[in-house]
Amino acid sequence: MRKPVIAGNWKMYKSVGDSVSTALDLKPLVANANHCEVIIAPVFTALKSVADRLEGSNIRVSAQDCATQKTEGALTGEVAAFMIKDAGCSHVIIGHSERRQHYSETDQIVSKKTQAALEAGLIAIVCVGETLEQRDQGKALDVVKEQVTGSLSGLTASDLARIIVAYEPVWAIGTGRTATPEQAQEMHAFIRRVFAERHSQGTADALRILYGGSVKPDNIAGLMKRTDIDGALVGGASLNAESFAKIVNYNG
Ligand code: PGA
Repeated sequence: MRKPVIAGNWKMYKSVGDSVSTALDLKPLVANANHCEVIIAPVFTALKSVADRLEGSNIRVSAQDCATQKTEGALTGEVAAFMIKDAGCSHVIIGHSERRQHYSETDQIVSKKTQAALEAGLIAIVCVGETLEQRDQGKALDVVKEQVTGSLSGLTASDLARIIVAYEPVWAIGTGRTATPEQAQEMHAFIRRVFAERHSQGTADALRILYGGSVKPDNIAGLMKRTDIDGALVGGASLNAESFAKIVNYNG
């Protein structure tokens, strides 16, 4: 009943030309993937070109961040959510751990960005996840609960229908060390319980929760078998069209 989502986060990789050619390579490879939603997230400068070339396909385009401010204004370097929508995107990744770590994004900022994204008509992919130190100290559940509640504060039930949560343990991102399906399942089930307690069982049941952190063609199927894992946010392995297509087509 929850349609899986496989999203590729290209981070700060690829020129406009490379982004378009990877997107065009990917298009025929995932054209029959009706079992899931397919999303790619190129850099800002490539969004419009990629979205134009993918029009009419089953691949959606996402940005990797947006401004907290909803309207245009004197904010050098920022890009508003409505501008991302205007460039042809349907989604935006918010609160990725690299932004939380390197650009000091707090839950409060993530919450504002999420509200701006939803108001612009985008679907927000909101990222949470603990560091290795926090996991080793036994704090993983508390940290993620705080991130989920802080990042999604002030949202109504209809807002929550346009949210996707991505659980990405920081220790698994780009390290080659994937969380085991059991570790991921435990956290996903926990996030769903947090939603059920704070909102309603219906909201929790409908919420899609993606796993992210060293997802590869050879570990996706094991992750997708778990009840509460509804897809993946893929970094490194999404940069190559063939490898990303194998992840998308995990079911066959
Ligand atoms: P990775 O990145 O797949 O390269 O670990 C995932 C992410 O940061 O979204």
